Amino acid sequence: MEKGRAQWASNIGFILAAAGSAVGLGNIWKFPRVAFENGGSAFLIVYIAIVILIGATVMITEFAVGRSAHKNGVGAVREINPKFTFVGGLGILVGYVILCYYSHVGGWVMKYCLEYLTGGRNVYADPTNFFLTDVLGAGTAFPVQGALIFPAIFIALVAFIVMKGVSGGIEKLNKVMMPTLFVILVILFVRGITIEGGAEGLQYLLKPDFSKLGGDMVLAALGQAFFSLSLGMGIMCTYGSYLSNEENLVRNTITICGLDTLVAFLAGFAMIPIAFATNVGVGSGAGFAFISLTGAFQTMPFGTFFGFLFYILLFFAALTSAISLLEGTVAYITEEWHWERKKTVLTLSVIMLFVGMLYTCSQACLDIKGIWLDANGLSFPIFGDFMEFFTDKLVMPLCALLYCVLVGWVWGVDKAADEISSHGLYPFKIKGIYSILVKFVAPIAIGVIILSGFGFIG
Ligand code: PHE
Repeated sequence: MEKGRAQWASNIGFILAAAGSAVGLGNIWKFPRVAFENGGSAFLIVYIAIVILIGATVMITEFAVGRSAHKNGVGAVREINPKFTFVGGLGILVGYVILCYYSHVGGWVMKYCLEYLTGGRNVYADPTNFFLTDVLGAGTAFPVQGALIFPAIFIALVAFIVMKGVSGGIEKLNKVMMPTLFVILVILFVRGITIEGGAEGLQYLLKPDFSKLGGDMVLAALGQAFFSLSLGMGIMCTYGSYLSNEENLVRNTITICGLDTLVAFLAGFAMIPIAFATNVGVGSGAGFAFISLTGAFQTMPFGTFFGFLFYILLFFAALTSAISLLEGTVAYITEEWHWERKKTVLTLSVIMLFVGMLYTCSQACLDIKGIWLDANGLSFPIFGDFMEFFTDKLVMPLCALLYCVLVGWVWGVDKAADEISSHGLYPFKIKGIYSILVKFVAPIAIGVIILSGFGFIG
């Protein structure tokens, strides 16, 4: 290992940081909606199966690659086979592209936090108008708040933490934020499952309706799992590279996948009954978190308080994920280009503020929404548009597939298993199953998502 390279101060710090990366907007905003649209309970069962069989396989594979080399997402892959360097590079690039818009959405979330802190009157007066005009600047030349002020504050926070380094910044923050996030989520969960009129929503999540089972649903679950577990972008590889050789990768992977899935489920069980009880529509894209739910908070008792908790929750989740996305790119640039950490963070932060502006502006104030409309008419172009297709359904799975090929077929399961077992310290009892998963099941299943994304299947 390179001398003086950063390391997590503790294993729990690593677990919380990796869980912080995984738990993000994907869990709290996107998961309840995707689960709702894809048949509720039946989707939940398929999702769990995918996390166990494919998600955990790819995650442990990324950890093993990162930890064996103790290098960034590109350097680690190159060390195994230089022909695969582009896989690492592509992952880092996509991670950075995601970060550009993710950090802007993080900014919008901050605007909502502030609004709810001050009573939520502007949102309640007209939720749609608040989102489209106050945040996204419809009818104006430039959304000063949604594209500049709030994203700049969010990015500054992310940059500040990443600049402080792995154990001094990222680990410390996650150790405070993740437990807090969990407590807030449990409060919202209890509120959701006990809300008057929410029984129908609960039933929807609890009674399996297998008539909904189908190709589209499985694919939605697969795409959601990749995004939610932060896979395919070298992020888990980078976080794994800061882990000492003595830590147990199998146990850590199970814990992180378990926490991420638990959070997604708690969010689903909190939000869907609330949506049912207050008669707000769930299946309205980005509008779910920024428009529909505001209606729910307006009608429920102490709604403004719960609304504030919800946006703080989203903010924490977004912040810890954005930090991991930035760290992935920063690790690459500092180690491969030998830039200083501070200069790297500052440069990347300024670029992402500006690139993200294009994204925020394209939501409402620039009239280019026509190209984003889906078959059902108006849909806000966030996570349901080209970006989602490009990242969740194309490059992210492609990188994950190539990771599996690299490890299963090029590096070889024996070497990977040796790393996973910490060179024999923790016997890797399911090596045979892992071998089948990484060589066959995961790559084939992932190949199917990619083809279906192009419309070849399903
Ligand atoms: N997993 C995060 C979420 O659920 C998003 C993310 C994707 C973060 C990829 C890092 C890497 O929102």
